[in-house]
Amino acid sequence: MSTPRILLFDSGMGGLTVARAVRAQLPNAHLVYAADNAGFPYGAWKEDALVKRIVMVMGRLIERVEPHIAVIACNTASTIALAQLREAYKVPFVGTVPAIKPAAAQTKSGIIGVLATPGTVSREYTHALIHTYAYHCKVFLHGAKRLAEIAEQKLKGRPVDLEELRLEVSPVFRKRDGQKTDVVVLGCTHYPLLVEDIERVAPWQVKYIDPAPAIARRVADVLDETPLADASTAVPPDGTVLLTSARGQAADSLAAYAAMGFQIPEFLDLSV
Ligand code: DGL
Repeated sequence: MSTPRILLFDSGMGGLTVARAVRAQLPNAHLVYAADNAGFPYGAWKEDALVKRIVMVMGRLIERVEPHIAVIACNTASTIALAQLREAYKVPFVGTVPAIKPAAAQTKSGIIGVLATPGTVSREYTHALIHTYAYHCKVFLHGAKRLAEIAEQKLKGRPVDLEELRLEVSPVFRKRDGQKTDVVVLGCTHYPLLVEDIERVAPWQVKYIDPAPAIARRVADVLDETPLADASTAVPPDGTVLLTSARGQAADSLAAYAAMGFQIPEFLDLSV
């Protein structure tokens, strides 16, 4: 039987938090990570252009990697393009959407904060999750403009500016009728990289929800039902990181990917 080949996709380094959980869940799987770093940050894109971009990039990645399963390790991409990806390609997809359902189940105060990109907070998909699962809660959504970039800088070894971080996260720490936020959803896969720093600047303690372990379990379940065909061509080895911009080939970026288990860089030229 062949080894499951899993493609993990994000705009940048955030999906590495999901890759880490998938590696822990499926230590023998063949993992290839892809960062559309030429398009980073996705949080700032207009919806139509972003959907086209994601469908195009994913087509190229599927050709190159021939994955048994593709993980869209990005909330900004999943909340807007999962349906179109499933329509365009027959590989099974697992997406990442803000963990509003578990947050609603875990809050005691009834006040939930959701930190995500400006794109994710504006999506109908995200609002539908709130209406369906957290209709009985007060949900404070915040589209953080800089958090994903701060997380990438941290992974590249730069210090985190705690004052800037405090300003980015404070809108989800709220009080209402004697109660306060007690659960914060990390609704962008970059944010778990910053959780210790966020804890330092938060005005009080809360529970942070990182969806990565749940996504990894879902990947394992879907793989159980997926036939593992051999690849028809030479595919990138386990531990490869595919990058769409040479910018990501800078030594500090490559060191960041390597530290998270992806030591073999390959440039995916989208212009050919
Ligand atoms: N990691 C991504 C997410 O989960 C997006 C970061 C970005 O490109 O803005 O939403």
